[in-house]
Amino acid sequence: MSDIKVLALVGSLRAASVNRQIAGLAAARAPAGIEVDLYRGLGGGLGDLPLYNEDIDNAADLPGAAHALRGAVAAADAILVVTPEYNGSIPGALKNAIDWLSRPYGHNALSAKPLAVVGASMGQWCGRTKRPVNRSASPEPTLSTRPRSRCQSTHWVASLRARVTTLSPASPTC
Ligand SMILES: Cc1cc2nc3c(=O)[nH]c(=O)nc-3n(C[C@H](O)[C@H](O)[C@H](O)COP(=O)(O)O)c2cc1C
Repeated sequence: MSDIKVLALVGSLRAASVNRQIAGLAAARAPAGIEVDLYRGLGGGLGDLPLYNEDIDNAADLPGAAHALRGAVAAADAILVVTPEYNGSIPGALKNAIDWLSRPYGHNALSAKPLAVVGASMGQWCGRTKRPVNRSASPEPTLSTRPRSRCQSTHWVASLRARVTTLSPASPTC
């Protein structure tokens, strides 16, 4: 059986993003049988996408970045969203990506796709919109040096694998 493909979408556009470090850790520590790829888009990740506009969401005008994102999500078996919290919600870049993925109507690329959300926030509340996985007073922690982070990233990816296996039509548990 070929590897289960997990696509990691990073909600932060920051070059030194802690959340990108976490996604990298999940890729580096993925259990056997799982391949985790960080979505890079046309080079700038989710930052390549223009703001969603229904006027350009058609075959003739569809931006290359939107085409690339839809294709990457469609090709993945599961999605791992790794994101900080911005003002009590998800960052605009991530929301914009979800808007692109949710259309055209009736063709939501995320529909029925196993998806997990993890991330780190350094604000006072440590991310209220999702379960926090890390917190530090240090502005730029090096997550790969933390045994707990390494262990957790492997656990999240393994949990996604279990979900993919459960949903698979070939699975004996279905
Ligand atoms: C615009 C903005 C809004 C933020 N809002 C929150 C928030 O609501 N809750 C929180 O815990 N942290 C908040 N933060 C702090 C981020 O969680 C922190 O900067 C985090 O490290 C960003 O992740 P990154 O390192 O992957 O870029 C905010 C940061 C920014 C830039």
